[in-house]
Amino acid sequence: MRSMSCWHVITFGTILVLLAACSNTHYAGEPVAALGFATQKHVGRPSLLHPVGNPLSVAKIDLGRKLFHDKRLSADGSVSCGTCHNPEQGYTQTDTATPLGIGQQRGTRNAPSLYDVGYRKTLFHDGRAATLEEQYKGPLLHPREMGNASIDDVVERIRGMKDYQRFFAYAFANEVSVGTIGKALGSYQRALVTGPNRFDQWRFGGKADALSEREIAGYRVFVDRAKCSSCHVIRETSAELTDDRFSKNGYARMRTGAGAFDPGREKVTQLAEDRFAFRTPTLRNVALTAPYMHDGAIETLSDVVAFYSSTGLRRIAANGAATTLSSQEQADLVAFLKSLTSQVRP
Ligand code: HEC
Ligand code: HEC
Repeated sequence: MRSMSCWHVITFGTILVLLAACSNTHYAGEPVAALGFATQKHVGRPSLLHPVGNPLSVAKIDLGRKLFHDKRLSADGSVSCGTCHNPEQGYTQTDTATPLGIGQQRGTRNAPSLYDVGYRKTLFHDGRAATLEEQYKGPLLHPREMGNASIDDVVERIRGMKDYQRFFAYAFANEVSVGTIGKALGSYQRALVTGPNRFDQWRFGGKADALSEREIAGYRVFVDRAKCSSCHVIRETSAELTDDRFSKNGYARMRTGAGAFDPGREKVTQLAEDRFAFRTPTLRNVALTAPYMHDGAIETLSDVVAFYSSTGLRRIAANGAATTLSSQEQADLVAFLKSLTSQVRP
């Protein structure tokens, strides 16, 4: 037993969470553990809010997990949500820049990790969806993702599957509908909360030795020298490491030069000033969710930092920020980014 925090967890969660906490592993979204973990107060995390009408419950998380990993929800039975958002690969796909949907068709965007997705104020790289309860229709209907003709088709198919009866009975008194499917998928994903990481413990938990000197040096570059935290925000009591807004870091513009044009937020707002703006991603667990950026074309954190040093920081030109970083500063930054990996995770 390494520290008190291992004991702390048991007062709220379950044995499973305890095991996860002490062995530094993940609990694979197991419903009882997920509910306990998502609803407890963690150092460095704001409380998780849920929409009116859809509070978390074990039965909904359980049903949502089953739906999320069920390939029968795709038109040809070959792809589930979990294919592209794989729990073993940080709820994204770490071995591909842009994942394959039905019929081996490839999209143009990287699948975002779903860690902490319940905290996000908008969804998708361009923020075109607002809630998890609604968002799920997008991939089900996308011809290159799950390829269904209509949501009603999917609802009918699920109604006909006997193995779902028990799950819908517990979660929603037998109602199988567009609304209850959305609530179940929303609950499962909302509960994918990341636990505290070493940085949280150092910054908010009073543990001065939780970070190494190199990681602290990287934090200084992040906050002071490069002002990364002007978008990947660190607040007084929590660090979501995103402002949940849309910003331009020069990457999308650079990719246009390489023949991979994506207008980003402009497509949603139709405003020219939003061209190349993307939702600022959180950096929690970022070491687990490669490859990076909206098209997944950067493979490592070192390469992300090298991009900022060569191009991004000059484009951003934040007031008083460095425009280029030494190789020492880049290495320190990467060390800091790697300290953002949570010890317990879904
Ligand atoms: C073929 C791969 C694929 C499948 C299958 C898939 N997704 Fe995704 N998912 C993506 C990609 C790619 C994006 C980003 C798309 C964009 O931003 O335009 C995404 C985005 C999301 C987001 C937004 C996350 C964020 O941080 O904003 C959520 C939530 C999500 N998917 C949930 C689901 C659910 C639920 C299902 C099943 C019903 C599903 N996905 C099926 C590839 C997939
Ligand atoms: C002006 C706001 C802004 C600043 C400042 C900024 N970023 Fe970003 N960052 C973004 C946006 C927007 C993206 C996503 C861009 C895209 O997908 O095209 C991003 C993406 C990233 C990613 C990839 C995350 C992922 O999951 O794909 C990392 C890592 C990152 N930034 C680290 C940093 C570091 C380190 C700094 C400081 C050197 C920094 N950022 C400064 C806005 C910013």
